[in-house]
Amino acid sequence: MAQPRFKRLGQLSAPLGALLEGEPSGWANLSNACAAVHSATGWHWVGFYLVDAVQDNLVLGPFQGPVACTRLHRGKGVCAAAWESGTTQVVTDVHAFPGHVACSSSSKSELVLPVRNGLGDVVAVWDLDSAEHADFGPEDVQAMEALTALLEERWSTWTWS
Ligand code: SME
Repeated sequence: MAQPRFKRLGQLSAPLGALLEGEPSGWANLSNACAAVHSATGWHWVGFYLVDAVQDNLVLGPFQGPVACTRLHRGKGVCAAAWESGTTQVVTDVHAFPGHVACSSSSKSELVLPVRNGLGDVVAVWDLDSAEHADFGPEDVQAMEALTALLEERWSTWTWS
């Protein structure tokens, strides 16, 4: 029988940790992190928005899924809420979320995790969008927080050229 999704996510920790080991490119590492989660879950959109400190907004980073909004602004949407509050956002119905940014009409629920560097600053958000209503349970959140921690442990050693 197929494994429950959160178990498949849990089983990504070891291979993803091995993939990240010794690779300094942040772009390569975020790209593989997206691909690993997308292929394990089939979620509609899996990707990163990076904090652009100069423009003071979020800019699209590596992702898997349909074309997405390039910039997200403070005070608007779920990703901005995760960035500004520094807390994980679980949204069962995106249409009920004030200011939700609809990059794709197929997204119905969403999980967004802040990603911090070694200083504790939020440097990115990991955005997971599902085409199913209320698709993110506590086990998914826990599994995704563990994968996010793998990125956070290494973030400050990465380069972005
Ligand atoms: N749903 C996000 C916008 C990004 S896309 O869905 C890829 C938000 O409200 O922040």
